[in-house]
Amino acid sequence: MADKKVIAVLGATGAQGGGLVRAILADPDGGFAVRAITRDPSSEKAQELAALGAEVVAADADDEASLEKAFSGCHGAFCVTFFWAHFSPETELAEAGNMALAAKAAGVAHVIWSTLEDTRRFIPLDDDRMPTLGGRYKVPHYDGKGEANHLFTDAGVPTTFLQTSFYWDNFIHFGMGPQRGDDGSLAITFPIGDGRIAGMASEDIGACAYGVFKAGAPLIGTTVSIAGEHLTGAQLAAAFSEALGEPVSFNAVTPDVYRSFGFPGADDLGNMFQFTTEFEAEYTGVRDIDGSRALNPALKSFAVWLAANKEQIPV
Ligand SMILES: NC(=O)c1ccc[n+]([C@@H]2O[C@H](COP(=O)([O-])OP(=O)(O)OC[C@H]3O[C@@H](n4cnc5c(N)ncnc54)[C@H](OP(=O)(O)O)[C@@H]3O)[C@@H](O)[C@H]2O)c1
Repeated sequence: MADKKVIAVLGATGAQGGGLVRAILADPDGGFAVRAITRDPSSEKAQELAALGAEVVAADADDEASLEKAFSGCHGAFCVTFFWAHFSPETELAEAGNMALAAKAAGVAHVIWSTLEDTRRFIPLDDDRMPTLGGRYKVPHYDGKGEANHLFTDAGVPTTFLQTSFYWDNFIHFGMGPQRGDDGSLAITFPIGDGRIAGMASEDIGACAYGVFKAGAPLIGTTVSIAGEHLTGAQLAAAFSEALGEPVSFNAVTPDVYRSFGFPGADDLGNMFQFTTEFEAEYTGVRDIDGSRALNPALKSFAVWLAANKEQIPV
């Protein structure tokens, strides 16, 4: 343990961070140890990580001093923010700033910042093809993360910018899976036309992050964009049909219709899908599947992920 490089992991009880914690623990000879950060070390999920062999410490992304303490003595830190807990890009910016300053103060040698594109680089606020949200965003849960990139650079933190992809887990937890229509048949609904979604198992984000820490110095200062597969709505529906043993169709709606669905974040996600579809080359195209597999040789295809998770899809 003493000669291992310790990686502090934010969001350790969640999807991305949890994947990284498990990837590190699954490779005991890999030279890395893990410090799982949680706001509540006594929670069931935190205790599960401790039972697997993780060091578990308390810190809060809103409290820079707690982060500096949690990062202290670590070689690396995995930094992620939690948009869907509060729907506020300003909170993400503040928390990312805390993470950057804490990493600098603690002398962390390699930070991974889990980020996404600032879509305003592609669609300025005065472009009315999609509504401006919150006064200064097109896709709030992307733009805040992309805007926060410079906080790590400005703080002089050695950072890899990890651009993640749509979680296939959203088909289980986010209400995006096949839904039954009035006629009883199943369909998935996305405003992507014939476009492809860059997606992956959330667990594989953490496993790719582990690959980034293992690769080390050559990836510092770079942007690494990851995905498991790039699939059209029709291809996703075909895979669901195969796995569920029942026809699932793809219901292509317009971004305007998707934004009007009214669930919390529908406007943000409608803008997101419009952005990823209209800028497919710049968004999906840069999410390198072979490169992701090089970082994480066990990278899952959608079919493999679906076969392992189909029982959890609420249909
Ligand atoms: N859904 C997608 O398709 C997708 C795709 C790409 C990127 N993302 C982004 O992924 C991010 C969320 O990551 P995730 O899905 O891995 O999160 P998650 O599964 O929701 O887990 C987040 C964990 O972080 C901890 N946490 C929450 N607030 C915290 C705070 N203030 N300080 C410290 N820890 C805190 C919580 O653990 P404790 O309760 O134990 O503290 C929680 O278990 C979002 O910003 C989202 O935009 C999502």
